Amino acid sequence: MARRFSVSGECNPERHYMLPPLRRLPMVRKLIDDKAYFVLHAPRQSGKTTAMSTLAGQLTAEGRYTSVLLSHEVGSADLGSVGAAEEAILDDWRACTDLLPAELQPPPWRSAPPGRQIGAALGAWAKASPRPLALFLDEADSLAGPVLVSVLRQLRSGFGLRPQHFPASIALIGMRDVRDYLMQAGGSGRTGSASPFNIKDESLTLRNFTPAPRRPVDCQPEPCLVSRPMISPSRCVLAFRRCDGCEPRRCFR
Ligand SMILES: Nc1ncnc2c1ncn2[C@@H]1O[C@H](COP(=O)(O)OP(=O)(O)OP(=O)(O)O)[C@@H](O)[C@H]1O
Ligand SMILES: [Mg+2]
Repeated sequence: MARRFSVSGECNPERHYMLPPLRRLPMVRKLIDDKAYFVLHAPRQSGKTTAMSTLAGQLTAEGRYTSVLLSHEVGSADLGSVGAAEEAILDDWRACTDLLPAELQPPPWRSAPPGRQIGAALGAWAKASPRPLALFLDEADSLAGPVLVSVLRQLRSGFGLRPQHFPASIALIGMRDVRDYLMQAGGSGRTGSASPFNIKDESLTLRNFTPAPRRPVDCQPEPCLVSRPMISPSRCVLAFRRCDGCEPRRCFR
């Protein structure tokens, strides 16, 4: 399939021209291996979903984790109650987890009272999964009010049971840090014992895209050129001048 530039939503390497997304998150892998719960926040359309969904695919393919990117977005609609929001979220998660290899898919979601459904589902999945779960919860700050507080409290409540009985590592992905969205939900934003998410290890943001590390290549420009002493690798090409004949040179492009 011919590739094109993505201008709407997550990039897919089979369909879109892409810059390597994981170089922007050099520190995430260690947090996951340390079984951390952490926050990744960055502005709108900065590549959060693309980067974390790529990482999830890679972690699962490597065979050490069951990893997937799931979204909280459907829970942000005005559904009238915490229980209804949880049901919508779990239904949406099922559609994403169906894409995992069969042996890594979660068991049917366990029925649980409102305010416990997300925690019960994650607990049952962690127990059944042959590998530790590393889950990336996108649009985490799209939830509001009691739904947001309830979901965060359920994550905190299961935290001590990881990795056998709850996901080993969870990333909350959104535009804001968790303290800021708790403030919006009407809380104090403090991370004291009353906070529903005082288990956060780290708040990260995405690095800017950077050029690929330069590596020496055999450079034989046409027509034959010889370089003057290089001022800097990035100006190498500008430093060429014509000559009558020379050896191919090593330079940086
Ligand atoms: N690795 C990449 N290479 C090239 N372009 C990218 C890459 N990652 C993201 N983009 C560009 O950024 C756009 C948004 O990507 P993505 O949906 O991953 O960002 P986001 O931060 O999750 O956005 P939102 O805040 O709206 O959820 C893509 O449509 C694409 O144009
Ligand atoms: Mg996104």
